[in-house]
Amino acid sequence: MNKKVLVIGSGGREHALCAALARSPQVQTVYCAPGNGGIEAVATCLPDLLVGDFDRLASFVEAEGVDLTVVGPEVPLVGGIGDHFQERGLAVFGPTQAGAQLEGSKAFAKKLMARHNVPTAAYVEFSEYAAAKAHIEELEYWPVVLKADGIAAGKGVVICHSREEALDALHEMMIEERFGAAGAKIVIEEFLRGEEASIHIITDGQTMLMLPTAQDHKAIHDGDQGPNTGGMGAYSPAPVVEGEMLAKIERDILVPILDALRHEGIEYRGAIFAGLMITKGGPRVVEFNARFGDPESEVMFPRLRGDLYEILHTAATGRLSDLEEGPEVDPRPCVGVVMASGGYPGSYQAGKPMYGMEEAEQLEGVTVFHAGTRRRDDGGLSTSGGRVLCVSALGEGFQEARDRAYDATSLIRFEGAYKRGDIAQRALGRSATR
Ligand code: AMP
Ligand code: GLY
Repeated sequence: MNKKVLVIGSGGREHALCAALARSPQVQTVYCAPGNGGIEAVATCLPDLLVGDFDRLASFVEAEGVDLTVVGPEVPLVGGIGDHFQERGLAVFGPTQAGAQLEGSKAFAKKLMARHNVPTAAYVEFSEYAAAKAHIEELEYWPVVLKADGIAAGKGVVICHSREEALDALHEMMIEERFGAAGAKIVIEEFLRGEEASIHIITDGQTMLMLPTAQDHKAIHDGDQGPNTGGMGAYSPAPVVEGEMLAKIERDILVPILDALRHEGIEYRGAIFAGLMITKGGPRVVEFNARFGDPESEVMFPRLRGDLYEILHTAATGRLSDLEEGPEVDPRPCVGVVMASGGYPGSYQAGKPMYGMEEAEQLEGVTVFHAGTRRRDDGGLSTSGGRVLCVSALGEGFQEARDRAYDATSLIRFEGAYKRGDIAQRALGRSATR
């Protein structure tokens, strides 16, 4: 058929979204603004249309007759792109600014959870340095978690193992303004122990539809050591939340948070990504995001067999209950290994020529999703960011999926390439019989 869709963003998540939308039998054209060097293979990239340029993006949609816009990253959502498109009568998948506060303000999310009994870490919120400092001086149990209220590209969270560390982190956030305005308000919360899982729903504010479960690997080094990154790899499904646990998450967390948003008068049309800790006492919310996860998207969307355009368009237009059934999901697991630039998440060099991506994609079940890549004038590809690629593979079991993903990464070369060696290790341990 003849539908046109615009995806906003330039990472591996947007590549995975574009690839899944391009598979829809209804979709004729996928545009991606601005896109990257690899997204070109499945979409028409618009490198001059930047994510923050709401007016030009909406004008493009009007001029081209685009039927649906899908917003990838959080920054434009928190900035109000959803409101801008809705005011112009355009179908947009992504919440309004009010809804995006779920991610944009930790204090807002914590208050909403407290009011509606959604299980999460106990917390205290501070807008004044002196009061926060006094609170830390009284604390007796470590670690505690300090969070800047606003969005800080995943870096505004510090796990503090001693009073000294907590006071240093507080000083950085509130006095040195390391995260700018995001740190004007902070949250101090209880440290949760357990295994993390990522749960995504698609909603129109009334009905919800759950995507396959996933688990991310946030730390830079094997064994979850070293500083946090945007995510170094992922797998789907996450065995830790299958079965009865998933039903409990739906009942105790997802349904109440949708009710809570409605209660606030927010009609939420978009994705909600619940970052959970599965503790001994049950699942608890670590954070909510107002968008799909990255690299979770690169392992969830390859498993989606249904028509993603249909799902996102019905959610964006408030008709999700019209869908007769949820998306068909490939039972095979998917494992995604991120290849990053040497030095990431600290400083790194960009502009390194890349080789071997086509050979890697010849392997069965493998897709190479591009994040920080750029097409050079001579037609080759170069690195252009910290996370460069996410190499994803489907397999009959976790072992096969993981072997395929790692075999594919070994065919790809660029100077300084770094990856973790233990992606999906935990899933293998849990499903030794598969
Ligand atoms: P956030 O940006 O809130 O997801 O935090 C980033 C990461 O910090 C999470 O994925 C967890 O690994 C960790 N984290 C955040 N809050 C807590 C908490 N209360 N207890 C334990 N770990 C946490
Ligand atoms: N993978 C975690 C995130 O997207 O925030």
